[in-house]
Amino acid sequence: MTDSTNDQTPPVPADVDADVDVDVVTVPDDLPDIAEVVAPDREISVAVGEPLVRLDELTVEFGGLTALDHVTFDIRRGEILGLIGPNGAGKTTCFNAMTGVYKPSHGTVTMEGASLLGKKKHAITRAGVARTFQNIRLFGEMTALENVVVGLDARHRTSVPGAIFRTPRHLREERESIDRGMALLEFVGIADKATAPSRSLPYGYQRRLEIARALATEPKLLCLDEPAAGFNPAEKQELMQLIRTIRDDGYTVLLIEHDMKLVMGVTDRIVVLEFGRKIADDVPVKIQQDPAVIAAYLGVEEEDDDGAA
Ligand SMILES: Nc1ncnc2c1ncn2[C@@H]1O[C@H](COP(=O)(O)OP(=O)(O)OP(=O)(O)O)[C@@H](O)[C@H]1O
Ligand SMILES: [Mg+2]
Repeated sequence: MTDSTNDQTPPVPADVDADVDVDVVTVPDDLPDIAEVVAPDREISVAVGEPLVRLDELTVEFGGLTALDHVTFDIRRGEILGLIGPNGAGKTTCFNAMTGVYKPSHGTVTMEGASLLGKKKHAITRAGVARTFQNIRLFGEMTALENVVVGLDARHRTSVPGAIFRTPRHLREERESIDRGMALLEFVGIADKATAPSRSLPYGYQRRLEIARALATEPKLLCLDEPAAGFNPAEKQELMQLIRTIRDDGYTVLLIEHDMKLVMGVTDRIVVLEFGRKIADDVPVKIQQDPAVIAAYLGVEEEDDDGAA
């Protein structure tokens, strides 16, 4: 459920710049209002329900294997869309094709009508797509706060001379980055560990930190790849609440998740993949009753839940 070849490399997050210079370690005691600070310029409640991202006939091939086979669906503004399917169904490949990691052999991905295909990863980040990874990718030696500030810097960059000479503008921007970073850590519930190296954080904190870092890029669409993997039931409940809060704060969420209770409980709509093909696209209650989905996936999971398998 966790391993596939595409998640082993690279060791550094694909959407951030490893060379970025981060020298913040202090935590301010006067935290500003979170919602104001996290993403003051983002669009909230704009045309909710309208397509934000469109995948059309998206196809990804690896040699003879078709990992994604003419997959078409919309991600609507303001929704939490689940992307589910058995292991190897093509879910992570779908994220990778959307975020510029893989080059599709066919089809299109558009965001608000503009194509995302062919753009560099950082350009896709700037366009408003952020993601977390199935296997956590953090800068282990950096503190939690620094990891988030790196995400902020993926969007807001001061000039190199400004950083070297520590101009007033640079210092102001650095202070703003720290405030925003702290607000994001607060938002995901891990502000108490702001100055701890990320590798020393409990697993659940690391998962939340990945979400904070993704939010730092001010995405319109937040893509979460199995954010609850390895969580206990209480942690899953908390994560569901966090995902709801994120959506209520104006973000659109695409969620890959194997835990059916979590998926059914938090999503507005679900797209189901099997062997790279879309086999269903509907509201959770319909997905639960869909014979093709039950045959492909839910039947197995339900047995697990009942302890029968
Ligand atoms: N870089 C790659 N090279 C070759 N094959 C790949 C690569 N990435 C993915 N695949 C294959 O594509 C198929 C889809 O993989 P993908 O990782 O998208 O599945 P998934 O739905 O995310 O599964 P899981 O639930 O296990 O994470 C699998 O057969 C996988 O082995
Ligand atoms: Mg996957």
